[in-house]
Order: sequence, then C-alpha cells, then structure tokens
Amino acid sequence: MTPATVRDLVYGALFTRAPAEMEATAIFVGGSDVVAGEAVFEAVKATFFGPFKVSVIFDANGANTTAAAAALAALQSMGGSLQGVSAGVLAATGPVGHRAARLLCRLGAKVAVGSRSLDRARGLADTLRQSTGGAVTPFAAIGEAELTEALKDSSVIISAGAAGIPLLPASVWSNLPALTTLIDLNAVPPLGIEGVEAADKNTVRGTVRTWGALGVGGTKMKIHKKAIQELFVTNDKVLDAEQVLELGRSL
Ligand SMILES: NC(=O)c1ccc[n+]([C@@H]2O[C@H](COP(=O)([O-])OP(=O)(O)OC[C@H]3O[C@@H](n4cnc5c(N)ncnc54)[C@H](OP(=O)(O)O)[C@@H]3O)[C@@H](O)[C@H]2O)c1
Repeated sequence: MTPATVRDLVYGALFTRAPAEMEATAIFVGGSDVVAGEAVFEAVKATFFGPFKVSVIFDANGANTTAAAAALAALQSMGGSLQGVSAGVLAATGPVGHRAARLLCRLGAKVAVGSRSLDRARGLADTLRQSTGGAVTPFAAIGEAELTEALKDSSVIISAGAAGIPLLPASVWSNLPALTTLIDLNAVPPLGIEGVEAADKNTVRGTVRTWGALGVGGTKMKIHKKAIQELFVTNDKVLDAEQVLELGRSL
C-alpha cells in the first residue's frame, strides 16, 4: 500500500456496508517502514468523509505501542506523573525514540533528546517543540563526558537505540545524581544500557528502578491487544501514539 493506492482499499471498507455496520471493519497501518506508514496513515484519514469512516490505528514497526509502554513504565516509576520531570531519550531520532520523546513532552516532562548527530537532535527538538509546545533540549551522544553533561539533571532515561547497539555505560549512569529510572528498549545483546537486563520490570538496582525490553514488551503487547479491541467498538477511533498511551493508562 502507498498513499496513492490506499484510497480504493478504504473506499472498499466504506461502501460495502451500511454506516451502522462500519465498526465491523478497521484499518491497521503497520509494516516496517515507519515514515512510509505515516504517509499511508494520513492518506487513510484524508479519505474519510462525514459518517463514512472506519477506525484506524498506526503502529508501524510497533513504534507507538512500544513508546507508549515505555512512557507507562516512566509514569509508574515516577508515581504517576511526569510533570516537570527531567528525562533523557537516547537515540531519540528513531521511530520509537521519537514517539517516546513526544509522549514524555505531552506528559509535561522536560526532555533531552540525543543522537550521534547534533544536527539530527536539533531537528527533532524543533519538531517536538512545535508539535507539543514542550521543553526539549538536543544533545550529541558521542562520548561519556557529553552523555554525563547532557543527562546530569535527568531522573528518567529511555534508551531507544537500534538493536544490538549499546548506548549508555554503567560508569555514566551510576554517577548521575538525579537518576531514578532506566528504561532500555533494545532486546538484542549487547543491550542498550549496561547493567540493565532485558527481563527487568520495575527492578530495583541500587537507587534506580530499571525496565528492559522484555519487561516493556509485555506491557506493549497488552496495549496492542486493547487497541485492537477498541478499533471494533465504534467506527471512529483514530489511534496514534497519544491515543494508544491513553488506552495503556486505562489498563
Ligand atoms: N520491546 C519491544 O517491544 C520493542 C518493539 C519495537 C522496537 N523495539 C526496539 O526499540 C529500539 C528502537 O527501535 P527503532 O525502530 O526506533 O530503532 P532504529 O530506527 O533501528 O534505531 C534508532 C536509532 O538508533 C541510532 N543508531 C542506529 N545505529 C546506531 C549505531 N550503530 N550506533 C549508535 N546509534 C545507532 C540511530 O540514531 P542516530 O543516528 O540519531 O544516532 C537511530 O535513529 C530497537 O532496539 C528495537 O529493537 C522494542
């Protein structure tokens, strides 16, 4: 499916049943290319008109459900609120990291977004400031000194790097004075945060609570199932990262 071809598929869902029966059909925009999926998602929404719509979810590569599960872990660790909390997202330029940072902003956190490239981090910070109105600071994650400086105020760190890429050494995080919460989304060894295990789920390690990719993944799957159920309740659900997070909070 591409934005150009998806319209006829949507028409097929809309015009083959009465409006009262439309909740029997829903659209899942998945696939592994998140940017291409976003374009299809926009084209699907643009095809709806008046009462002619069916529910739709966007979760290419599991990016939204994974980011929502990470945000839920952060909320749980911080007592249910991230308002005013300083947070850092490593590899925030990827699909999961971008959405995790966006959700943290929406929840009122002050968010530092990291990338190997300061230019990419700056571009993302601009995008997030515009879309959320949040306080976002870019940083270049290129060495231990830079990481320590960028994350020195962070209470929460989410590591959203590519599979098998270690991003945060224990020697850095163990000396961050404000740190309470570490969340690593990379399940493939070597893991993203040294000292955090994939199965960690609200695990206490010294003064820090930790979640690993499998710990987050269990919540992600619960959110995914709830979201799929919701699609077939009414014909007007549009589930992007924010709506998926709200479903997760309701679980
Ligand atoms: N637990 C779950 O249920 C679940 C579900 C889906 C995904 N995941 C995991 O979540 C993580 C993020 O997924 P994603 O799709 O957003 O990842 P991704 O697009 O593959 O990579 C995210 C970022 O990692 C950085 N990166 C890539 N290669 C690197 C390298 N060699 N060295 C340092 N940084 C590198 C890049 O940022 P810069 O170029 O800006 O530095 C990239 O934007 C992955 O580990 C994925 O496996 C977990």
